[in-house]
Amino acid sequence: MSSIGARLLWNILGPSMRRTALTLEEPPDTPTLELIRRVKDKMQVRIPPEEVSRRDASVYEHTLRGDAIDLTSLPFPKHWPLDGGRYAGTADAVITRDPDTGYLNVGTYRMMIHGPRQCGLYLSPGKDARLHITRAWQRGESIQVGAAWGIDPLFMVVGSQTFPKNLSEYEFAGGIKGEPIPVVRGQLTDLLLPANAELVIEGEIRPGSIRPEGPFGEFTGYYGRPEAGAPLVDVTAVHFRSRPILTNALMADYPSCEQSGFFAVARSARIWSDLDRLGLPGIQGVYSHPAAAGGFGMTVLSLEQRYAGHAAQALALAAQVPGGAYYTKWIIAVDEDVDPTDMDQVVWAMASRCNPIEDIDILRNTWSTWLDPTQNPPEERPYSSKALINACKEHRYLPVFSKRTALRREMYERVAGRWASLGLPGEAPTVRAFESDQPVVYHEEGSFEPRSQK
Ligand SMILES: Cc1cc2nc3c(=O)[nH]c(=O)nc-3n(C[C@H](O)[C@H](O)[C@H](O)COP(=O)(O)O)c2cc1C
Repeated sequence: MSSIGARLLWNILGPSMRRTALTLEEPPDTPTLELIRRVKDKMQVRIPPEEVSRRDASVYEHTLRGDAIDLTSLPFPKHWPLDGGRYAGTADAVITRDPDTGYLNVGTYRMMIHGPRQCGLYLSPGKDARLHITRAWQRGESIQVGAAWGIDPLFMVVGSQTFPKNLSEYEFAGGIKGEPIPVVRGQLTDLLLPANAELVIEGEIRPGSIRPEGPFGEFTGYYGRPEAGAPLVDVTAVHFRSRPILTNALMADYPSCEQSGFFAVARSARIWSDLDRLGLPGIQGVYSHPAAAGGFGMTVLSLEQRYAGHAAQALALAAQVPGGAYYTKWIIAVDEDVDPTDMDQVVWAMASRCNPIEDIDILRNTWSTWLDPTQNPPEERPYSSKALINACKEHRYLPVFSKRTALRREMYERVAGRWASLGLPGEAPTVRAFESDQPVVYHEEGSFEPRSQK
């Protein structure tokens, strides 16, 4: 197999918002919050994949089966010095079928090479492929697996988000692309595989078939806990285009982590989309900060407070919706005059609108992973906890809350209009709150009598 001329591609999206935007079929200079809003709306659209004939699938240009397969001869990399082995799939798409409902899941999961025709799958608790494997094994059955190791980065973006467990990521990828994803039926499995991938494997996991896996340098910026028994895939076929490009994702701290930049868009959009579907009003923006453990660690949401308890409700829901529950430790709510993508403004709100003794709640025993370095001893994993931080102006005291210092809009526009002629560098900064915009405040819940702020 070494003669197939495989090449490695790294740093596909990295922290680049421009590349992320292009992958999500949006103009590269779209402002971040606007990009998140558009992707959120596109996540409501589902377009089923389109099955193409085997003859038309470019991934079937070459096929190897049985003893002809030797994964060890391919140039799969070791990512970090202390990694437990070489990893084939990191920027990948792993396809499994739910034994109960039959839907196809597409997940981004790393795969360690164990031998010429064997590789492992690392799956954190609650991940869809893990649930599928567990269900098949409970029935004493093998489960079929497909994995694309050279992909359009859209698969990595969609495959690494938590979508509803009974719907296929192929449909969400189609919704984002605006056209059906071409798929082809497996030659040895009943799975639908990305027809234009660079390299795809087919295989199966037999009941109880496991192998130690890891450690692996993770999205947290630390090595993960080695896994004593990770599911072992017996590879039965390898399909590839000529000189296939194998896609890799470095997991690291920010900004080197492959997933951080696109998580800041896709994960934020997933959470916002979940909140929209729940009918929660007033959400002005959601942001998963890219520096927080690959975008998994922190969610900021900006909202227009409309009623007593609204911010607390938004915090609790954002913390636990499917798109945002895994791993996240910090969930922060800010008012609509704060841009959630601007950490300076968020920290300002935390320092000026949050009274820790009143405004922080903790959720315990929440969904997390064995990869969380804060849970010690490691045997206590994979449960975690979440802090809900209300950095909105205190709703109960809105009428008397100190008034924000803000420019008059006319003054801002006069200066912004003469920015260059005044010799000021760059562009006028964006300002979200003006004196004239500050809302009329109603003094009690249930009362509609306006009272001006002090
Ligand atoms: C490049 C990359 C590699 C990943 N590797 C793994 C992995 O090996 N195991 C895992 O459980 N999650 C991994 N994740 C996170 C999952 O893709 C993510 O949690 C996703 O929700 C899983 O899909 P699912 O919800 O369909 O299970 C990875 C994410 C990225 C971006």
